[in-house]
Amino acid sequence: MRLSLRFILPLVLALSALAYVSVLVLDQLTTRWFIRDLDGRAQLIADSMQEPMSEMVGQRPAGKVIALFARAIRDERLYAIAFCDANRKVAFKTATFPAELNCVAPAPQADFAGSILRLEAGALYVSYFPVVLGAAPAGQLVIAQDMSFIERRSADSRNYVLALFLVLGIVVSLITVLVAHLSWRGWIAGVRSFLRGEGLVRPFDSSAAAAGTGMAAQPAAEIRPLVGDMRALLREVTEDRNAAEDVTAQWNPDALRRLLRERFYGDQILVVSNREPYIHTRSDTGIKVRRPAGGLVTAVEPVMRAVSGTWIAHGSGSADRETVDEHAHVQVPPDHPAYTLRRIWLTPEEEQGYYYGFANEGMWPLCHIAHVRPVFRRADWEQYVAVNQRFADAVVAEARTPDPVVLVQDYHFALLPRMVRDALPRATIIAFWHIPWPNQESFGICPWREELLDGMLGSTILGFHTAQHCKNFLETVDRYLEARIEHESATVSLGGKLTRVESYPISVDWPEERPDTALSAEQAAAKLRSDLGFNASHLIGLGVDRLDYTKGIVERLEAIETMLEKHPELGDRFTFIQIAAPTRSALGEYQSFEERVRATAARINARFAAAGNDPIRLLVETLDYSAIFEHYRACNVCVVTSLHDGMNLVAKEFVSARDDEQGALVLSQFAGASRELHEALIVNPYDIEQTAEAIYRALTMPAAEQRERMRALRSSVKDFNIYRWAGRMLLDAAGLRQRERVSDRIVSHRRRFMRSQAPG
Ligand code: F6P
Repeated sequence: MRLSLRFILPLVLALSALAYVSVLVLDQLTTRWFIRDLDGRAQLIADSMQEPMSEMVGQRPAGKVIALFARAIRDERLYAIAFCDANRKVAFKTATFPAELNCVAPAPQADFAGSILRLEAGALYVSYFPVVLGAAPAGQLVIAQDMSFIERRSADSRNYVLALFLVLGIVVSLITVLVAHLSWRGWIAGVRSFLRGEGLVRPFDSSAAAAGTGMAAQPAAEIRPLVGDMRALLREVTEDRNAAEDVTAQWNPDALRRLLRERFYGDQILVVSNREPYIHTRSDTGIKVRRPAGGLVTAVEPVMRAVSGTWIAHGSGSADRETVDEHAHVQVPPDHPAYTLRRIWLTPEEEQGYYYGFANEGMWPLCHIAHVRPVFRRADWEQYVAVNQRFADAVVAEARTPDPVVLVQDYHFALLPRMVRDALPRATIIAFWHIPWPNQESFGICPWREELLDGMLGSTILGFHTAQHCKNFLETVDRYLEARIEHESATVSLGGKLTRVESYPISVDWPEERPDTALSAEQAAAKLRSDLGFNASHLIGLGVDRLDYTKGIVERLEAIETMLEKHPELGDRFTFIQIAAPTRSALGEYQSFEERVRATAARINARFAAAGNDPIRLLVETLDYSAIFEHYRACNVCVVTSLHDGMNLVAKEFVSARDDEQGALVLSQFAGASRELHEALIVNPYDIEQTAEAIYRALTMPAAEQRERMRALRSSVKDFNIYRWAGRMLLDAAGLRQRERVSDRIVSHRRRFMRSQAPG
């Protein structure tokens, strides 16, 4: 609808302006034509009266002259006629001759022989003609013609023109709407692929071209302004479409709280995740609290702060048990408590089987296309089932009402929605899958595929980051379960219960939670360079990841190596800082991955270390958010090269940290974030040459282009923030919940009616 209006509104305005101008021009033309006609008629009348008048002038037979005049004005357009004698006195006139007229001819109208006399009753066109007797002038004939017919005809032609434009407008609008709707989807798809660089391949250089590699992320210079415009247009379209789906335009903590009050009547909110938002650890200096790395906590924590409630998670810190009460509860955030963290204690066997084994050696590589083979062990599966049940029991124990809102996070808890549904049939269960969902064939290798799908379909809402993941999931259900899928409403019906499957792209808080001590971007840039002993113009690239094989860290370092080979002048002017938070280190796959990353960094440093500068600084540690934030603000380019990623919140965090509108983002096309962040330099991380060129391009990008791109990126992340993510899921859940309540009421009415009709 908006799309149609966008086309039609300018069209209607243009047609109206055209109609207005046409009417003005037409009015002038017709008036001119008609006056010429009046001139001709007046001349004709004067000519035909010349002879009788010259005969009568000498005799002055008043009756005859008046009769002649009366006959003449029978013509309805001839209004009055008079004869002025040689002394310029009216000698004969018709009764209609107006008092305002006399024998002195006024100055003629420009271009015409006569002149216009405007009276209250209407306008007259007056012409004066000499009457001669022999060769001598005897007086003059005054002929006044009625002009009202000109106005009538002008009005008629005006109406015709307006009607014509109206019909034209309707026809053109209909055609426009039809063509726009037919071509819109295809056009958008075309623009998206165009912006990704597909079809606009420009060789990186001759050697790259020879190697068959292309710089897909960089369109030719001559069409770059067009690409900028198209990006802006595409973003506008995406925003419009997304905004149309939302009831609340501006999503923030207050909007979320309002939604819960109005649509859920303040019902209790319970979150379930494996990773806890705050981890207490014992150190030499006492108990410390830290926030873990990972997108889930980054995204869900601000939502919980806004809505309160209880977050149920695995207590994994060495001092976690010391910091809870007798119900395993602790109020968090520690400095400004806003919600309750309920910790669940797992035995080492449970953690090994459920978390390391089934979740991280089975489901993680199953869902990410990173070419690491999934491992499925029955013993791990059994632990997975048992731990899901333990968390489900905790949900039931924490629930204060029969219908709480339960937000289930990620692939650690695929079975939990069904378990909670069985115990609390009226609960609203929103499950969100933070990682990709593979195609049905890939998923089909899991020995417990049916059980996992059935477990997930215990949810009211099942969310993924992208439409592609939803599509993959629905196809998987279609292939392996007897369920009814309604593609129109994106719902799956299993055992009479509905689950809505929808994409909800996750995001970050906005404005990003700023550390109290935050420096301005300029100060942060100066401080980091001086801390590292660099001069003010030293270029800094940044990577921030968990040390996970899906993040494309090795490929990224190889791209930097390639860039340094091609641009040796950067050798002592550029440093890449890779912050890599250790993760799942108990697993062999992660240990060998860490070794590969360390070895790659060491090799590159050995090759390029110029006077005092290691081009790669690898920090294998979990930094505080405030330290990461300052790196985001200080760097020239942030590089995200995931081989496969549900969303990747580092990309959005970086954008939200750059309030100076500087810095560039290089982003993998295989991260969900690339579906939204169109102004990033999008790369295929497997294409090392292309990634190298994109990083170089980011480092040499003019400040004005950085600003233009960053401004657009920031406006997109700002509007599509984490509150919108949560708000949209809650809104959809409220709709389904309402629907179920109404249908429950109908069923119970029907039962009561049937009972009342039963005999006896
Ligand atoms: O976003 C995916 C995810 O697995 C989250 O579920 C998790 O919190 C995060 O990455 C970090 O992984 P882990 O908790 O295994 O260290």
